[in-house]
Amino acid sequence: MSSLYVALDFSDPSQALTLADLLDAQSCGLKVGKELFVRGGPNLVRTLVDRGFDVFLDLKFHDIPHTVAQACLAACDLGVRVVNVHAAGGRAMLNAARDAVPQTPGAPALIAVTVLTSMDETALAEVGIARPLAEQVQLLAGLAFDAGLDGVVCSAWEARAMRTLFDRPNPVIITPGIRPPGSALDDQSRVMAPSDAMAAGATALVVGRPITRASDPSAVVQAILASLR
Ligand code: C5P
Repeated sequence: MSSLYVALDFSDPSQALTLADLLDAQSCGLKVGKELFVRGGPNLVRTLVDRGFDVFLDLKFHDIPHTVAQACLAACDLGVRVVNVHAAGGRAMLNAARDAVPQTPGAPALIAVTVLTSMDETALAEVGIARPLAEQVQLLAGLAFDAGLDGVVCSAWEARAMRTLFDRPNPVIITPGIRPPGSALDDQSRVMAPSDAMAAGATALVVGRPITRASDPSAVVQAILASLR
């Protein structure tokens, strides 16, 4: 699996393909989220997979178990490398997702989202969760671990705790909120440098704007990879 996923946060699929043209599939994977998927559809994902990229399909499935299992199967058919679900969907949903995604070489890693970083304790309380946020993250990650998921997507600041919790060979700990030293924060607040995030327990990084808005995106990818060696 790639150690670096470039977040293709574009509204126009042609912009995503133009960026992919500038990148080397041997050096990085690509993350496709909801906006780009709704605009570009499965065909765009297939095109990126056909170009040799590891694709992280970041659609955060959360529905009844059968529906999530079928969506996971569809993601497997697209040939993506990583697929994710909301741990808040519950044990039965996580079990159904796990049953749907084969644990064979070439099948995608199945990882969980815990508490969205856009949620604070006030927002959690408004949806009936009075527990402190950190405890809610631990509880949901524990549920995902129990269901046999391969790992989580989390802040680099949570990576160490997640690595401890996912006490299995080769856990997948993918961290966004990464900024190479000296690059703009954009709207991120608690960021970490690539090498620090890996040292903190991340197994792969998600980096968007520092790469997608660079004049030479490939050079930024290579600089990040060099900083990890
Ligand atoms: O441009 P930037 O590097 O900030 O992009 C980060 C990517 O990771 C975006 O696609 C964003 O939606 C995603 N993400 C995040 N924080 C999370 C979960 C996902 O920034 N907690």
